Amino acid sequence: MKTINLIGGGRVGQTLGRLLAQCGQAQVQDVLTRSAASAHDAVAFIGTGRAVLNMVDMRPADLWLLAVPDDQISQVAAGLALLDSLPPALAFHASGALAANELKPLQAIGWQVASAHCLLSFASPQLALKQFAGTPCALEGDAQALAELRPLLTRLGAQCFDVRSEDKLLYHAGAVFATNFLPVLQDLAEQLWQHIGMPPQLVQQLRASLLQNAVNNIVKLGPQDALTGPASRGDTALLANQGQAVQDWDASAGLAYKALSALARQLAQRKKTTR
Ligand SMILES: NC(=O)c1ccc[n+]([C@@H]2O[C@H](COP(=O)([O-])OP(=O)(O)OC[C@H]3O[C@@H](n4cnc5c(N)ncnc54)[C@H](OP(=O)(O)O)[C@@H]3O)[C@@H](O)[C@H]2O)c1
Repeated sequence: MKTINLIGGGRVGQTLGRLLAQCGQAQVQDVLTRSAASAHDAVAFIGTGRAVLNMVDMRPADLWLLAVPDDQISQVAAGLALLDSLPPALAFHASGALAANELKPLQAIGWQVASAHCLLSFASPQLALKQFAGTPCALEGDAQALAELRPLLTRLGAQCFDVRSEDKLLYHAGAVFATNFLPVLQDLAEQLWQHIGMPPQLVQQLRASLLQNAVNNIVKLGPQDALTGPASRGDTALLANQGQAVQDWDASAGLAYKALSALARQLAQRKKTTR
């Protein structure tokens, strides 16, 4: 069985580590994080492996998953590349925005490198474990690395697809729009409702009902036909008044309202021209 070392044992590291251990296709060996407590927590969640606090103590492995924050990936790769005790292996990171060339210090000494980005909001390892089956996973990197990772991730339940290295930033921006901005928009809505004194239980109720309503409409009709509101009606006077009211309440929210209204108007126009 292949061995895998994890560097980073947070939400993604723990989830993928546990799935790898469960599917029995790779043996989770060493788990390195920044603090002793989080390495032990990760090993406890994964159910196997050895918590390690220093990179120099990591044993050679067939696969290396760098599940560290994006801004740590190149530094970790550079650190690994300095360790003479490690034979070349396959290293991959989990970033959506960054390409496999973040791992170029390893590639330069004969490692195979790739990125594998699972399109799931890993809010917590416990939740992500239950939600993982069927998750689309964007692969990019060396052909030999992808030939190995594709079947492995597929066995974990991922649906793998390819992304070009040069497209990764925009690919990931799509994911940011589709999922990361939703909580931001919901929070803005709730702040406005709280600001005008709506009862908290009504705000809570709207959180579920309006979001569900919007999701159902988008899934069923697509974004164009699901668009409602003043922008879809072309009510520019209301858009201007409302934009100003939001601006007076909060300058950043006002800018967001104006930018999103302009995009909503474009979407409404496209709706007309494609009919
Ligand atoms: N969360 C998501 O929804 C999601 C989805 C898809 C892809 N991703 C990608 O997955 C990667 C990891 O994200 P995450 O959400 O799992 O992060 P996270 O929950 O913040 O966990 C990061 C882990 O990396 C460790 N770490 C940080 N710097 C390190 C270093 N220099 N050396 C060793 N370990 C280090 C942390 O250890 P300590 O706890 O000790 O600090 C922690 O275990 C990122 O590339 C991210 O873009 C995330």
